[in-house]
Amino acid sequence: MSSEFTAIFEPYPRERRYALAMLMDVQNRCRYIPREALEELAAYLAEEKVKVSSLYAMATFYRALSLEPKGQHLIKVCDGTACHLRGTPLLLDTIKRTLSIGSGETTKDRLWSLETVNCLGACALAPVMVIDGEYHPQVKVETVGELLAQYEKTA
Ligand code: FES
Repeated sequence: MSSEFTAIFEPYPRERRYALAMLMDVQNRCRYIPREALEELAAYLAEEKVKVSSLYAMATFYRALSLEPKGQHLIKVCDGTACHLRGTPLLLDTIKRTLSIGSGETTKDRLWSLETVNCLGACALAPVMVIDGEYHPQVKVETVGELLAQYEKTA
């Protein structure tokens, strides 16, 4: 087997139970799960009789996986109870207006993706958002534009 996904799959045993881990690795590499990756993973796991359809179901079930290309930067805004009470709705509105996308969407230039999550485990620092894995505590509406601009500079 030789493909662009070979290097991702080969460290794993050809067993069904590793399928999710392999898909997560594809997601991290490509920022989405291309159709070819599903087909090649099914071929890689052929002895386990794993079908493309079950990998597709897995890719649609887990929120961490996406069949659509994600943006270069991923914003996760916490809308758990503590964050919601401390300003997430206004924060989300501001981000949506600034980027012209809704939660679960990606900007046309593929620079930004926006997600809403339930609790990031940092309730004392509400409202919290995470950009590219970096936590931003007590985010204020007035500073969101500046914060996003910092990431755009690194694009
Ligand atoms: S509710 Fe937002 S971090 Fe817990």
